[in-house]
Amino acid sequence: MFLRNAWYVAAWDHEVTRTLQPVQILGDHIVLYRTNAGAPVALEDACPHRKLPLSMGRIKGDEIECGYHGLVFNSAGRCTRIPGATKIPRALCVRNYPVMSRYGLVWIWMGEASQAHASPILEIEHWNDPAWDKNRGGTMTVDCNYLYVTDNLLDPTHVAWVHCSSFASEACEEEPIDVAASADGVVASRWMCDVEVAPFYRQFVTFEGRCDRLQRYEVRFPSHAVIKAVFVPAGTGGRDKPLDEKALVMDSYNFMTPIDENRTKYFWFQMRNRFAGDESVSKAMDDGVREAFAEDQVVLAAVHRGFANKVTRNFDLAIDRAPLLFRRRMAELIEAEHPKPVEAAR
Ligand SMILES: [Fe+2]
Repeated sequence: MFLRNAWYVAAWDHEVTRTLQPVQILGDHIVLYRTNAGAPVALEDACPHRKLPLSMGRIKGDEIECGYHGLVFNSAGRCTRIPGATKIPRALCVRNYPVMSRYGLVWIWMGEASQAHASPILEIEHWNDPAWDKNRGGTMTVDCNYLYVTDNLLDPTHVAWVHCSSFASEACEEEPIDVAASADGVVASRWMCDVEVAPFYRQFVTFEGRCDRLQRYEVRFPSHAVIKAVFVPAGTGGRDKPLDEKALVMDSYNFMTPIDENRTKYFWFQMRNRFAGDESVSKAMDDGVREAFAEDQVVLAAVHRGFANKVTRNFDLAIDRAPLLFRRRMAELIEAEHPKPVEAAR
């Protein structure tokens, strides 16, 4: 089950072109393309006649011609031509999904179209701040249900074992986690004081010696993670303290789009408050993050298989509070989209 009334990332902007591109999102088969004027379009990828995917047809101007019998559909999903027929039934159409370009990504609304514009897309802080920069980011498919990814991104402890050579330092094993519910998600965070700078971050930190480090892992509904990493000189960090001027701040944006119940498309990039315009830093971040996420990819696929095939019960631990809280609230939101029929009066 998925939350339908939400914006998901369908693709990077540059992936949506004048070529028909089939994608699967929340189990739905969708065709993406761009109009001549540059607007992204998302339509149900099945001709209503014989259900051939429209992505196997051709773009004709701003319309798609089915590759089986030449029916044509416009960008709103309405049929505009049936070869050999003079009348086009009103009901002959494919579903049109609201889409929007923002932050270099094409976002898609998977629910009730009339509700799309009342729901804003998540805001990316510092997007237009010249003192900040971003790296290119990446995409991967993880062979697991998206909730295993949200579990992972609400779990700052896993870096100690999954990312030993990059994101981990000795404090990552023991320091307790604070968990909080926000209006639009769940936050798991902790300050680790007077610790080593973890290997991946050493190349980006501009001060010497040990550090205070914040891990702030937030997942917002439906499945967008904002992971804030802060490194400041040891002794200057901590909750509610102003940020030291030497602080390295890296905000990792992670957008998970369920392909179906067993696969998740994962889009990401990072924003940083240092080395604006330095391409070599962007590349180092891209390379390091991709390597670390590949470690998660292996673990999460195996966890999915482990749960699918479990023969004994699993135990939850204290570190699972944030992931479980997120799952519970997500289940409530999904249930609210499917109101139970009112029992007939006796
Ligand atoms: Fe990870």
